Amino acid sequence: MKFAYRLSLIVAGLLLTQTLMSQQSQYPKMKAFIDALMKKMTLEEKIGQLNLPGAGDITTGQASSSDIAKKIEQGKVGGLFNIKSVAKIREVQKLAVEKSRLKIPLLFGMDVIHGYETVFPIPLGLSCTWNMLAIERSARIAAQEASADGINWTFSPMVDISRDPRWGRVSEGNGEDPYLGGEIAKAMVRGYQGNDLSKNNTILSCVKHYALYGAGEAGRDYNTVDMSHQRMYNEYFPPYKAAVDAGVASVMASFNEIDGIPATGNRWLLTDVLRTQWEFKGFVVTDYTGINEMIDHGVGDLQTVSAMALRAGIDMDMVGEGLLTTIPKSLKEGKVTLAQIDAACRRILEAKYKLGLFEDPYRYCDPERAKKEVFADEHRKEARRIASESFVLLKNANQTLPLKKQGSVAIIGPLGNSKENMPGTWSVAANLANATSLYDGMKELLGDKVKVNYSKGSNLDADSVLEANSTMFGRSLGWDSRPAEVIRAEALAIAKEADVIIAAMGESSEMSGEASSRTNLNIPAVQQELLKELLATGKPVVLVLFTGRPLTLTWEHANVPAILNVWFAGSEAGYAITDVLFGDVNPSGKLSTTFPQNVGQVPLFYNHKNTGRPLEEGKWFSKFRSNYLDVSNDPLYPFGFGLSYTSFEYSDIKLSSQNLKGNQKLTASVTVTNKGNFDGKEVVQLYIRDMVGSVTRPVKELKGFQKVMIKAGESKTISFEITTDLLKFYNYDLKHVWEPGEFEIMIGGNSRDVKKQKVNWLK
Ligand code: BGC
Repeated sequence: MKFAYRLSLIVAGLLLTQTLMSQQSQYPKMKAFIDALMKKMTLEEKIGQLNLPGAGDITTGQASSSDIAKKIEQGKVGGLFNIKSVAKIREVQKLAVEKSRLKIPLLFGMDVIHGYETVFPIPLGLSCTWNMLAIERSARIAAQEASADGINWTFSPMVDISRDPRWGRVSEGNGEDPYLGGEIAKAMVRGYQGNDLSKNNTILSCVKHYALYGAGEAGRDYNTVDMSHQRMYNEYFPPYKAAVDAGVASVMASFNEIDGIPATGNRWLLTDVLRTQWEFKGFVVTDYTGINEMIDHGVGDLQTVSAMALRAGIDMDMVGEGLLTTIPKSLKEGKVTLAQIDAACRRILEAKYKLGLFEDPYRYCDPERAKKEVFADEHRKEARRIASESFVLLKNANQTLPLKKQGSVAIIGPLGNSKENMPGTWSVAANLANATSLYDGMKELLGDKVKVNYSKGSNLDADSVLEANSTMFGRSLGWDSRPAEVIRAEALAIAKEADVIIAAMGESSEMSGEASSRTNLNIPAVQQELLKELLATGKPVVLVLFTGRPLTLTWEHANVPAILNVWFAGSEAGYAITDVLFGDVNPSGKLSTTFPQNVGQVPLFYNHKNTGRPLEEGKWFSKFRSNYLDVSNDPLYPFGFGLSYTSFEYSDIKLSSQNLKGNQKLTASVTVTNKGNFDGKEVVQLYIRDMVGSVTRPVKELKGFQKVMIKAGESKTISFEITTDLLKFYNYDLKHVWEPGEFEIMIGGNSRDVKKQKVNWLK
């Protein structure tokens, strides 16, 4: 054990040297600068850099009298987070650079997750655009606004793969697929960090929650994870690794345990995988009180877990102050080394150096910029455009949509006129009053052509306690204490007067997100009752579905003619939804996550293994096969699915060759024809199956996609270049290899409806 520990110190030392050498070329003066600074630092000051308290009691004008202020002056704070406004941040930065002994500037972090004041769709919605340029652009605008308002570090992207819609935080991630998740991770990091961190409009990005946070048992937040290393490396790690490959500046450790050791104290995860295997060069921060929570995990008292975290590879301690308060004692007792403290301190100082804070600590504190750039008109225009690309048309019988810009429309439902719920979960910087509800947006855009009426029709849920717990943080839907029938009757009277009914229903924004797990994934019953009565009017009904997760919509799919899933679309939601409902924008979103038929099928995902007793294709049930008695194995809506106002037809796949060798390249093409009357964008998806492996392989895996605009009546040929890189996977020994043999190439508009061809690929 002792030997292993020493060896790990040597490896850590070597790694640090390597990091320093590689950074030297990009930042030639950084090492000398930090060496000189660290020579002057006391042990307490070094440990102070590792401390990231919450902003606590800081308000403008009082910064200097707060408790945090004293700590800043004493050099006991490395950064602060979730303080909003350039004025406050400037004031606090001033304390650090004028009152502390060594004048080291602070980092200012924030959860800028899907936009700052200009809010983009929740990440799950953004991922359904399958448009990497749009996603990168959303992160760029978020960084532009956040940096104008004093922020230099965002706790984003969140890239936790999840296959469990019971987990509320699926709303914050990119769905179930490692490849799509990886592409999005890269796009987000590029958007936030640009190519020069010292510019005043780029900020540090932080990939989270490393690792496997989306795989908690039973979809309950913060719950235990237990997973094979095979599955980690092949299915859950790729998006974190993609962010590291894209140069992400920081990583946040997750709350869950991995192999019986909490991620925050897991040296294998934070050092062996992250630093040794992936060559990560930035710093690692805990999640909120992540160190302290190891006490409840049951691995020791505060001193023990804090030392464990530092040894594992944590550099910064969010909120809990375990490092600040116990590391000096642990050093004396030989439980941590000075080298470990120095390494962590150096990484924090490097981040500050790269941001240019030592040159100008107020680089991100220009009040004039904040006035001009935050919630700027051009940003809002882009947010509206991107939001409309995130909507997924789930059903459109008899071309119910798009609606005509004439006659009258009744918007009915608890989400129909709520500004506050449009930004969606984790929009801490949003000014909720600035968002546009569906009712307001539609009236503003079409009020002179279409008569638009609104009635709430029902509460979010019949249970007022559940509703209160689902509408926190200023997102109240205004609980109506009258009997449900009375509220409903009011709405029905309005609905009966309209030509078309828009049912604005589903979840409130805080019904997903952190600590918002659900065991029932239906639209709340009180809303479903309302929906039934709306349908009974015989008028065309369009369900505009608000949700932060896949819901079980089996009944709705069978009974409602049109369903448009709009997630939570951000500050411009009301306009973007109107754009799509009335055909100014043709929907092009595709699901990044499977929608199950019922909650008992969960976890249900497209890239599963085959089992030794797979159900025969096309069958619903066979005795002694892998299936259920009461429901088919099929999802309600598969991964990659989404309709358009037009329809696309796929030709068979053309392959450049069916027999390949070694490093040859394969080209697979299809011709896609727009058969309808609308121009539209289609996401053409490439899947591959490795028919025989040294370990079992999934029935299909996404390996490429292209989003293309095809005009009505037009055909386009889409080609994918396939190299052996795309065939690689982590084998039993966790080596990244491809194995010769037979592969199935599949291309289609979703993961279920694909054209297929086989190839042989030899060594
Ligand atoms: C969340 C993180 C977030 C942090 C800081 C935690 O509760 O898990 O995602 O970045 O708080 O607000």
